[in-house]
Amino acid sequence: MSDEKRFYLTTPIYYVNDAPHIGHAYTTLACDALARFMRLDGYDVFFLTGTDEHGQKVEKSAQAAGIEPQAFTDRVSKNFRDLAEAMNFSNDAFIRTTEPRHARASQAIWQALMDNGHIYLGLYSGWYAVRDEAFYDESELADDAQGVKRAPSGAEVEWVEEPSYFFDLSKWQDRLLAFYDANPDFVAPASRRNEVVSFVKGGLKDLSISRTSFNWGVPVPDDPGHIMYVWLDALTNYATAVDYPDTESQAFSNYWPCDLHMVGKDILRFHAVYWPAFLMGAGIAPPRRVFAHGWWTNEGQKISKSIGNIIDPLDIVERYGLDQVRYFLLREVPFGNDGDFSHRAMVNRINGDLANDLGNLVQRVVSMLHRYFDGVIPEHSAGHRDADRDLLDAAEGLLETCRSRMREQAFHEALDAVWAVIRQANAYVDHQAPWARIKEDRVRTGAILATLIQTIRRIAILLQPYMPESAGRMLDQIAVDPERRAFANLGRADSVPPGTALPKPSPVFPRLREEAEGAA
Ligand code: MSP
Repeated sequence: MSDEKRFYLTTPIYYVNDAPHIGHAYTTLACDALARFMRLDGYDVFFLTGTDEHGQKVEKSAQAAGIEPQAFTDRVSKNFRDLAEAMNFSNDAFIRTTEPRHARASQAIWQALMDNGHIYLGLYSGWYAVRDEAFYDESELADDAQGVKRAPSGAEVEWVEEPSYFFDLSKWQDRLLAFYDANPDFVAPASRRNEVVSFVKGGLKDLSISRTSFNWGVPVPDDPGHIMYVWLDALTNYATAVDYPDTESQAFSNYWPCDLHMVGKDILRFHAVYWPAFLMGAGIAPPRRVFAHGWWTNEGQKISKSIGNIIDPLDIVERYGLDQVRYFLLREVPFGNDGDFSHRAMVNRINGDLANDLGNLVQRVVSMLHRYFDGVIPEHSAGHRDADRDLLDAAEGLLETCRSRMREQAFHEALDAVWAVIRQANAYVDHQAPWARIKEDRVRTGAILATLIQTIRRIAILLQPYMPESAGRMLDQIAVDPERRAFANLGRADSVPPGTALPKPSPVFPRLREEAEGAA
């Protein structure tokens, strides 16, 4: 059992049929911000990501590329590891489903389901979409303009008829509904929870969990002519990574059950219906929470390879800057909703929130400190006036607000709360006008600047999860000891002491010299 100060969170594992795009970067980014937040808040965090390397979809892509599936997955999986590095993701592990330990874990979970009487052999006949690696009921399909049958996701389906093992999902309806009832926060946001509950209430069919028509996957124990359904194999990665089937191991006892599976809305059913049923069937505790986020469009259009408007995260990082992109993705859209990526929205965020609000605040305060006090934090009695106290209290109150917002994965609201204090600090600078005050009252001017430094210190500490590199540079600018940047250091006791010399200033968030108006 993981205790209160431990936190295990996961991204979906990504199909290695293609290069990483913005959708992949988004899911992992959200997890990264949360993982960093929890670590700074004193948690022992295990943050897992990885690649989903089996199944027909990957097998077909390897064939199309003219290479063996293993060599193909080695190559594409590396792109995802490179992305993690380029995006400054702090994942603690990277799992690949082609690792031998994962085949062991998948077979062990299969065996447990078999031993507990949840698997039987039958014959599957029905529709399958390779792109989604999912089975569909006839009633879910629709013909497109060319008369091609498609799943609700738009994926083409094919008729499959073959011997197959089944999981007795139809028997899980009541147990799942009782589980959702007992765990009201299990699926988030609330609208998604309702979707899942009504799907389960609508009745469940037994699930085909093996295939005989291809080879690229984990063989079924004692019947290697069958390959495990890729979703059963893929979901098991979350257990493999903490040593399952060794449930006595340190990792398993520290981190299981998983605290949060972060997923896109398209794969919620697998995580919120099938996965807890598999786990309970195998006698393993189900996860605590599944959060389904929305999808990005590009300048109002669905992102798709056929339209040719895929956003490569590395391209936008190069164009706008890494922390700018991280900030935009987490701030622009209420987390859970769909969002639109547009050049104009990006420029507005960078020039408005980052350059005007935050960058300017830091720049003004630090340069006045250099100009009036030779860059040395003055002796002061900050916080004696009401205006000082108001600002300091607002900044101090941020931790609790951010904590509660992050607990709900409301990243945009956590950032919004920080920005309210940034704006308050800018208003305070305007109102206190240190540039005028310095002429008559040096002591009071010192107190004003010290109040601002303290506020910036708190803001920058709290921004580290979202913009690690830039927040780090802001903390460097105001000479905050690298050992004192955790949330436990937010209190007054860890203020930068008077007499500390600040390094030479340099702007953290320059304005983008781009025509926001000219852009589409
Ligand atoms: N391999 C499965 C997951 C198995 S987890 C046990 C899979 N992989 S995926 O590579 O297709 O998708 C991974 C994630 O990317 C999903 O959470 C999906 O929602 C997300 N996105 C793909 N396109 C997206 C957008 N356009 N916008 C936001 N996220 C999107 O599914």
